Amino acid sequence: MERFEEGLVAALKDAVRGLGWQRAGPAGRLAAQRCTKLYSEDGEHIVLVCTEDGTFYAMDSACPHEGAVGCGEDTSGQGDDSLCYWAVKILSTPDPEEKVQLTLEVQRRWEAGELEAVGCWIPPDQPPRAADLAVLEPGRIKRGKGGTLGSRIALLHSLANIEQWAIDLSWDIIARFSDVRTADETPLPRQFFNDFVKVAGDEAKHFKLLETRIRALGSHFGALPVHNGLWQSARETSRDLRARLAVVHMVHEARGLDVHPQTRARFAAQGDSESVLVLDTLYEDEVTHVAAGLRWFTYLCKAASEGCVPTFHQLVRSHFHGYLKPPFDTQGRNTAGMGTEWYLPLVKPAS
Ligand SMILES: [Fe+2]
Ligand SMILES: [Fe+2]
Repeated sequence: MERFEEGLVAALKDAVRGLGWQRAGPAGRLAAQRCTKLYSEDGEHIVLVCTEDGTFYAMDSACPHEGAVGCGEDTSGQGDDSLCYWAVKILSTPDPEEKVQLTLEVQRRWEAGELEAVGCWIPPDQPPRAADLAVLEPGRIKRGKGGTLGSRIALLHSLANIEQWAIDLSWDIIARFSDVRTADETPLPRQFFNDFVKVAGDEAKHFKLLETRIRALGSHFGALPVHNGLWQSARETSRDLRARLAVVHMVHEARGLDVHPQTRARFAAQGDSESVLVLDTLYEDEVTHVAAGLRWFTYLCKAASEGCVPTFHQLVRSHFHGYLKPPFDTQGRNTAGMGTEWYLPLVKPAS
């Protein structure tokens, strides 16, 4: 695409967002379903109908005959009790407590085999946040260094924010890419969904552990402003599953492993062993998340007969701004299966 056209497309996207519009998904896929139930970004139901001549109509799905036969019926024909239905429901839930509870319940049901269908539902462009949570641009948040109680709370608060986005990112990868096919039209194996349901459950547990710890220190989640930096990476990779796995799970989540020793040391230096225990639990789980990202990235590259490491470098260079920063947690990355060949070539070259 020409530079001029890129600028024009970016300006149009900004204008559409400014009007409060929401991208619902590819027209071909929506037309094929004829009738699709969506969530708007404020959590309301919307029904999108495609008529025989290809015209789309959208209306809110509030039923004036509540309680009558047919109310609450699934208009998409996909089933209201599928994994993707719940993924989108959780993504559209602004209250973090409710998001955590729903996540743990859906994980329990999926793992018990009570919930079986994967389904096909379209996730929101950006998950809503609670009205009392101030969301700022990433550069405008002050990070604590852990030297005072206030600073420790600020650090835990910023980690809890990351975990809340991480819950959403797990459900988003499930819903957004549920219909991805490999080159020979093979759908994603069930294990893909098993892995990311487990990741979602871990992230919900992490949020809860941090939120409980923040309360024990005399504050609460929402007391400080947060950023939405992680969701910017989600938007950047919303059209390509491999780019999503590379940037979110193999760059950002691996970065979480790298910063763990320093964060842990700050709490340990203050004698805050309870927080250290929480951070260690998070770390153990995060190694498995990087491993899951790497497993599915490798699966997709092999299915496309493409070199995994060169493809990773190319996708990170296209979808992640800047270089990877040492020092790296070589041991944790190795445990996840990520050798130095994956990340050292992405470090800024010495000038
Ligand atoms: Fe986490
Ligand atoms: Fe994670």
